[in-house]
Amino acid sequence: MTTGRPGRRTLSGHALARLLGEWEATGGAAYEALAERIRVLLIDGRIPAQTWLPAERDLAEVLGRSRTTVISAYRLLRESGYLTSTRGAGSMATLPSAAGAAPTLADGGLVDFGKATPPMWPGLPDIYRDVAGSLSAEGMGSGLDLIGREALRVLIAARYEEQGLPTRPSQIMVTLGAQHAIALCARSLLTRGDRVVVESPTYPHASEALRDAGGGRLIAVGVTEAGWDVPGFEAALENARPALAYLMPDFHNPTGASMDGATREAVARAAAGAGTLLLIDETTRDLGIDSPAQHPPLAAAAPVDALTVTVGSLGKTVWGGLRLGWIRADEQVVSRLATTRASSDLGTPAVEQLVATELLPRLPEVIADRVEQLRTRRDLLGSLLPEAFPEWRVPMPAGGLSFWVGLGTPMSSALSLAARARDLLLTAGPRFGIDGAYERNVRIPFTAGPDELRSGVALLQDAWRSLPRMAEPVSPAAPVV
Ligand SMILES: Cc1ncc(COP(=O)(O)O)c(C=O)c1O
Repeated sequence: MTTGRPGRRTLSGHALARLLGEWEATGGAAYEALAERIRVLLIDGRIPAQTWLPAERDLAEVLGRSRTTVISAYRLLRESGYLTSTRGAGSMATLPSAAGAAPTLADGGLVDFGKATPPMWPGLPDIYRDVAGSLSAEGMGSGLDLIGREALRVLIAARYEEQGLPTRPSQIMVTLGAQHAIALCARSLLTRGDRVVVESPTYPHASEALRDAGGGRLIAVGVTEAGWDVPGFEAALENARPALAYLMPDFHNPTGASMDGATREAVARAAAGAGTLLLIDETTRDLGIDSPAQHPPLAAAAPVDALTVTVGSLGKTVWGGLRLGWIRADEQVVSRLATTRASSDLGTPAVEQLVATELLPRLPEVIADRVEQLRTRRDLLGSLLPEAFPEWRVPMPAGGLSFWVGLGTPMSSALSLAARARDLLLTAGPRFGIDGAYERNVRIPFTAGPDELRSGVALLQDAWRSLPRMAEPVSPAAPVV
């Protein structure tokens, strides 16, 4: 993605071709397949709305297709409200109002396999009531602050200490969830053009935040359910000397993988050697289903603690709606983050912090409930999926929130569109990759309730059967254009 004229987001022909990946695999006329792929890129956010697409001639050249194919694809997109063209200015991708407002379960009739968001921990309303009941104007000050209330920071620091990572309360900043923490770190700690390592697949909103903040080039290092590409990580750090590496060491989203001891040592050593800051996302750390996280937080393995920033959250254990997370970092980094933070938000609200202060001592109980719930749901989905899709590869995750499924064929975007037509929200695999990878994978969360999981799988089966090339044998990877 480039910005041509100031304030104008423009995609070059090459950039769009990378995002398109294996777009022809969906069958049918080429112009329809092209339009369909651009539509799915827009719907799932890989092409932000209001992005100017390349001129027809440029795209045709890069794709090795006739201009008529691209002109016809753009016409289809215009007719369905996904493109507006202005003579002399070009063609801008848009979302028709119904598609733009991503529908949610609250709208009714939809099954949501798009988000990995567990329901509220049932004890939370009582805690809110208790906090509201004892709320008093005394000692509340302005009700928001950039660093966080002392009592809460003491509890968060103590939790790290218990897990084998000595931490002072002054090393903690309370944030509005982990996403806020990641975006704040990206904005404060990166300089435009810095190189950044991310896992592949990765959590898309983190890679977006890193890219938006100036991670000029994202460098991908592979993760599968079997683990991290450690030599790839070491080589990336040695050759590219990235400013920052964003990692999810425990129950990685979307694969559910966790780093073993040797990987932790190697990653920490490589980062210290290259002077690369490790941005460690532990949002999913407490979601061990088969067993709890086996190692202390990754920062404990780092030879230089100041070269780590760790992010945590109550979003997956307690509830995403609580909007409460934190950053653990060197004191100097915390004060730098506090300085940058004020320009985008004025601090974490006091009531959420009071609720979190009540919650933290009860976290073992909360985690036990959550893990039990996730175990039932994972096991259910883990038996439904292989039954419904014997041709898929469905590795059983040891924790986390989702299955990372291998489809055996590059149909993930097509599947996500076909699912959407059946009121099933599903995020296509390439959303978790960089520049079009993972068309052969799809993430299926097990956070929904049992009935929803069952009806979602039935809709998914119907969507899968509707795809034109389903019956074909598994083909080797086609070249990415
Ligand atoms: C790995 C990871 N990091 C961060 C977040 C954002 O969490 P929060 O709700 O605390 O902002 C998520 C949410 O899905 C996540 O999966």
